[in-house]
Amino acid sequence: MAKFYITTPIYYPNDVPHIGHTGTTVFADIVARHHRLLSEEVFFLTGLDEHGQKVAGAAVKAGQEPQEFVDELAVKWQDYWKKLDLSNDEFFRTTSKGHKEVVSELLTKLWNEGKIYKATYKGIYCVGCEEFKAERDLIDGKCPEHRPDQIVTQEETNYFFKFSEYTHQIREMIVNDQIKISPQNKKNEMIAKIDEWIKDGNKDISCSRQTVSWGIPIPWDTEQTTYVWVEALMNYYSATKIYQNRSEYWPADVHFLGKGNNWFHSVIWPAFLLALGLPLPKNIYVHGYYNVEGKKMGKSLGNVISPQQLIDRYGSDGTRYLLCASMPYKEDSDVSFEWFDQKYNAELANGLGNLISRVGKLVEGKNYDIDFTKFNYSNLIEKNPEIKKAYEEYRLQDVVKEINKIVNDANEFLSRETPWKKEGEEKETVLKEAVQRIIEIGELLLPITPNTANQKILGVFTSTKYSVPEILFKRLV
Ligand code: MSP
Repeated sequence: MAKFYITTPIYYPNDVPHIGHTGTTVFADIVARHHRLLSEEVFFLTGLDEHGQKVAGAAVKAGQEPQEFVDELAVKWQDYWKKLDLSNDEFFRTTSKGHKEVVSELLTKLWNEGKIYKATYKGIYCVGCEEFKAERDLIDGKCPEHRPDQIVTQEETNYFFKFSEYTHQIREMIVNDQIKISPQNKKNEMIAKIDEWIKDGNKDISCSRQTVSWGIPIPWDTEQTTYVWVEALMNYYSATKIYQNRSEYWPADVHFLGKGNNWFHSVIWPAFLLALGLPLPKNIYVHGYYNVEGKKMGKSLGNVISPQQLIDRYGSDGTRYLLCASMPYKEDSDVSFEWFDQKYNAELANGLGNLISRVGKLVEGKNYDIDFTKFNYSNLIEKNPEIKKAYEEYRLQDVVKEINKIVNDANEFLSRETPWKKEGEEKETVLKEAVQRIIEIGELLLPITPNTANQKILGVFTSTKYSVPEILFKRLV
């Protein structure tokens, strides 16, 4: 059986998730479910990046020890993911013993092979990004993604990884799609950034921190801890070592992430893997950001949307559908409650909801002899090549669009055929066709709105006696 390993970034638990983190995780869940339905053996991994200056600072603010702080947040993050029916197979935490062991092993290998050395470095650091910055990365001395107080100047003696030895090779590999970054604009951005890096002196990168105690100690020098990004990236590989029966899953089939994490996943991570002699991930899919009402989402702007707000208003499946429909596939996408409400009412409450309730009422108590093999998920994906292709290219907003077209077609079919005006065999033929279309829609919705598809659609229309389904999505007023 084919294996499929999909990951999300591991998020900083300095706070609870917002819709950005939720989006990436829901997208990955939908793709994971799609592959499971195609009978593949899927390993879907998400989790938390618990070490480093940013999380340690948040713990101090909360007046807690960092471990206690992240333990509490880890419960909250997992609660959100359960509410959204995320089907991750494991929930990774970088403070786990197993991860520390794998990271120590990998770093020791690089050290023993002379790929890591000690040097002093002075530079600008953004705590929000947990990243050293060049002047060019800043706008008026500020990080474009974080508050000004997140920028600090640091001078430290660190261990350095010989990154410069891999940059030319990685550039070639990106150009030739041996490191496959999609969509194209995100690939181009990485080529441009490597060119700048090389032009700026092709520097090596720090892989340890002298002044951050909340981290994994460097195995041969416990005065230093591992730079948080280095051990975070290693989670993808260490997961295949730590959990049972996962050793066959490396390399990952796809890493899902947002654009701010592109450089680390598409350039730094491959450099470490090349140095370690390990295979590279097969695909890196980089989406844009959700902006809220035209503005970048941020605490200081007070426009952060939490998954809870969405779940309260649209339910779990409604939230999943709306996030998928608004996926910032290539560019950033602007979302608002107004937009979500409108989409929810038009496509879920009216389009899908009306179809199901209209047909449900007409076929109540009946049953049609339907050949379900034609309606199994794999066959339906073959029958709908636009959906198949959209999944292959991770264009999930297009998957929703295509399914919505099928729903609209089915509603038009009913309005055209008016089975409520027909009698006898003529009526039954139309209704059987309508039920078949609904089963097709239910199957295709399984990855996106799993509960609604399973219980409220397929549960009713594949039973031996149809009943009127309960309301799928209550109209918002
Ligand atoms: N801990 C690192 C990732 C390490 S992965 C080895 C990190 N964490 S984070 O908490 O800042 O999460 C970043 C990720 O959150 C992005 O890659 C993206 O998946 C998601 N998003 C954060 N803000 C977002 C938006 N405004 N819109 C969409 N997704 C965004 O960086």
